[in-house]
Amino acid sequence: MRKKWLALSLTLALASTSSILYAADNQADIEAGETKAASCVSCHGENGNSMVSTFPKLAQQDESYLQKQLHAFKDGTRKNPMMASIAQSLSNKDIADIAAYYMAQKVSANDLPVDNDDDDDKPAASAADKKTAMDKLMAEGSNLYRNGDLPHEVSACIACHGPLGEGNEPAAFPALRSQHADYLIKTLTDFKNGNRSNNPENMMHMISNKMTVEEIKAVSYRISMMK
Ligand code: HEC
Ligand code: HEC
Repeated sequence: MRKKWLALSLTLALASTSSILYAADNQADIEAGETKAASCVSCHGENGNSMVSTFPKLAQQDESYLQKQLHAFKDGTRKNPMMASIAQSLSNKDIADIAAYYMAQKVSANDLPVDNDDDDDKPAASAADKKTAMDKLMAEGSNLYRNGDLPHEVSACIACHGPLGEGNEPAAFPALRSQHADYLIKTLTDFKNGNRSNNPENMMHMISNKMTVEEIKAVSYRISMMK
């Protein structure tokens, strides 16, 4: 009886291993993705943690979202001169492998942002005043992220991007946590003025269009500190 069970479980184990191997043939390959991502390092950094604040971090980003954006750069529905020619050189399999590789990396934490927008009409702010102003912006950003700005029809970001900014992989809602504040400000402004328009139902345009410049800055600063 015992031997029979052993034989049966062995057969089952072998059967399932071979089906896993077969499936893996058609699936994204993280190791191949790492090799194929070599040309991305100069802008997006080691492991997808870019050092330049206007170049987005790709580490730990949802695979589905990364794939969607690479196809969009490739077919021109998302416009960026730097990314267009790069994406055009990638096959569907390259895109799948690279996306799987970046999702498996860990996103790095950011330093507290520095607000350099000095108001010329006012005397230069002291360090203490700057800290108070930053605390106020962070609190405003946190409130907007969690509760939205309903009188101005700005939906709460948390509903789609998650309590920790982790995104929603099946829905291709991107992770936002620890993204560079400068890139977040740039891309929210692009959504607002229509320069970035490949988002489903134009929902990020509808949301950012109602946001003030200060709200965009506040929420971007806050998100950049989410881990
Ligand atoms: C010359 C610099 C440069 C190189 C090289 C580069 N990128 Fe980019 N990438 C950018 C910039 C800049 C953006 C932001 C575009 C924007 O502002 O809309 C971007 C955006 C992206 C995005 C969208 C991220 C998001 O959060 O929406 C993905 C995905 C991406 N790049 C993947 C890649 C991959 C994969 C490679 C290598 C095969 C690569 N990039 C190489 C500069 C570069
Ligand atoms: C109804 C769902 C929904 C809500 C609410 C929402 N978003 Fe989004 N957001 C999306 C989707 C979907 C995308 C991906 C768009 C695409 O595919 O290009 C996105 C993309 C983004 C991006 C681009 C990320 C990147 O890496 O380029 C940023 C930044 C962003 N959202 C910020 C916000 C902020 C801030 C709020 C709250 C004020 C918010 N979102 C509310 C669905 C939502």
